[in-house]
Amino acid sequence: MSSDKLSAVLDRIDADFDKSLERLFDLLRIPSISTDPAHAGDCRAAAEWLAKELTGIGIESSVRDTNGHPMVIGHRKGKGKPGPHVLFYGHYDVQPVDPLDLWETEPFAPRIATKPDGTKIIVARGAADDKGQLMTFVEAARAWISEAGDLPISVSVMLEGEEESGSPSLHPFLEANGEELKADLALVCDTGMWDARTPAITTMLRGLVGEEITITAANRDLHSGMYGGLARNPIHVLVDILDGLRDETGRVTVPNFYDGVIEMPADVKEMWDGLGFSSDDFLGDVGLNIPAGETDRTPLEKVWTRPTCEINGISGGYQGAGFKTVIASKASAKVSFRLVGNQDPEKIRAAFRAYVRAKVPADCKVDFAEHGGSPALRLDFDSPSLAKARDALSAEWGTQAVTIGCGGSIPIVGDFKTKLGMDSLLVGFGLDDDQVHSPNEKYNMTSFHHGIRSWARILDELSK
Ligand code: BES
Ligand code: MN
Ligand code: MN
Repeated sequence: MSSDKLSAVLDRIDADFDKSLERLFDLLRIPSISTDPAHAGDCRAAAEWLAKELTGIGIESSVRDTNGHPMVIGHRKGKGKPGPHVLFYGHYDVQPVDPLDLWETEPFAPRIATKPDGTKIIVARGAADDKGQLMTFVEAARAWISEAGDLPISVSVMLEGEEESGSPSLHPFLEANGEELKADLALVCDTGMWDARTPAITTMLRGLVGEEITITAANRDLHSGMYGGLARNPIHVLVDILDGLRDETGRVTVPNFYDGVIEMPADVKEMWDGLGFSSDDFLGDVGLNIPAGETDRTPLEKVWTRPTCEINGISGGYQGAGFKTVIASKASAKVSFRLVGNQDPEKIRAAFRAYVRAKVPADCKVDFAEHGGSPALRLDFDSPSLAKARDALSAEWGTQAVTIGCGGSIPIVGDFKTKLGMDSLLVGFGLDDDQVHSPNEKYNMTSFHHGIRSWARILDELSK
């Protein structure tokens, strides 16, 4: 009975796919870059667009103000419906587009392109992260309501506008609205597939600590001939500190950094070995071929299960055209740590700061600014809802769905657990070559189409 409904819903998705694509394009045209205050109005516009779409479908939604960019919250709950009440989460904000000159076309002018191998792709900032992904769910919900008259289970929706800038408003928002948002299970569409044919459920995410350090030496910029050799150069102080963060085997040197790191059980390692990950392909795609990082770890271990320290940005001194013989007064760097297991973000932040302070000469000064912190996350491999999602995904893609780790971070998933006591199911359709956060971001047409169909099936499966 319910499977008759499902096939009608799936047919509806196929028939209306061009319209789904048009709606995604409308959303992709809004430059909702959350980290840039100049785009605050665009973030609001994206939120309003989404609230209107959701309400139009029949998921009553509103734009909720926060201290930063607004949230979109919607509900369609039915009394006595079977299955869990789910909260779907996605984010409508996107990363900045720089360097703009490396984009082949305008980042906010979405287009369809065909790769040399025939693959059809949607190109735009946010196509994969996360507008294309969140729209897979929205379009699945639309098809269910329009074709079957209702959603098979109770659904609430939460779309965030600050994920790409560390979610500063999230904690207060969850504190204030926890009762309203709490559901039996969160569905999160912000992760990837194993490869273009193999769907995946992500059960591990790395945590993240962001720190910005600024070293100040002299009280003004100096002539490097007059002062050079005697006056301390803050850029040298900075790069010495940064250089010392990792030893020659790739291990992070911050004291107690590895406290809480967990070794993967043998059966999990075995399962991953069976996936046949090729670091040659993975690196080859981005023009590299020599694995970096810890010398005694396999490639998948490195990106899924090991913590890291990365310098994400560094600045100081003369950056303009030509050349200037100057000793700058200040130098700064943005550093992030990816965390795994039970590593404690705040302990690591404190240990990092102590490590830096100990290395700053007494006549120089260091200032720190924090940019978020969230612990790593491990989800239950064997939950009933994960099994249902696996069945739904396997049926849609014709290939057995796998459970994978993920090197990236989605801080809210931890908050869902600790603040709302809610588990999450992470299903997404991104691919390694989507160029998320990079120029020419894309989302495969098959990810969008089969992504919509996948959610339609998952909703059905969860209702059983
Ligand atoms: N969607 C990503 C997380 C992700 C990355 C999932 C790679 C799967 C593969 C998310 O939007 C993201 O970029 N997260 C940031 C978090 C940070 C800004 C707090 C990250 O991982 O850097
Ligand atoms: Mn994302
Ligand atoms: Mn992102």
